Amino acid sequence: MKIAVITVSDSCSAGVHTDKSGPLISELLAELAETAACRLTPDDAEKIEQALIECCDEIGADIVFTTGGTGLSPRDVTPEATKAVTDRDAPGFAEAVRAESLKHTPHAMLSRAYSGIRGQTLIINLPGSPKAVRESLAVLLPALPHAVQTLQGTQGRCGDETR
Ligand code: MTE
Repeated sequence: MKIAVITVSDSCSAGVHTDKSGPLISELLAELAETAACRLTPDDAEKIEQALIECCDEIGADIVFTTGGTGLSPRDVTPEATKAVTDRDAPGFAEAVRAESLKHTPHAMLSRAYSGIRGQTLIINLPGSPKAVRESLAVLLPALPHAVQTLQGTQGRCGDETR
């Protein structure tokens, strides 16, 4: 499995803070996936869209994870940028993360994270903090291999193995 990671952060882009969440995503998925690209963008919809399109269409990632920019502040535009470049919704990933994250913090409901599909690439928004990344990936990890197989048509109908 090939993933790409896009960190969305004004302060990391400006060099004020060091990006910890992007590298953490690669580390937590290392046994499952190779990280083919890491990008860092400010909270700017056009730049986020460009990075997403590059990771999907040129790099050919199976999954693109974004981290950051999903909250309520006026600069948080990652969900809108992601929606703008996807063809289909895949809401289950974002829904599952939000639901499970409420067990850790009531602030989980502040995340507007979106998940959708562009071509054969699944795009999943994650919140920005390393803590949130860790908690979110723990929810998603068990479903990712099957998600990629079904998206790419390399898996028979779901549940075939039990029929
Ligand atoms: N989800 C989990 N699992 N753990 C967290 O600590 N933090 C929340 C939320 N989701 C959090 C979480 C907080 S405080 C915010 S403001 C939103 O994610 C949005 O974060 P973002 O703007 O960095 O994307």
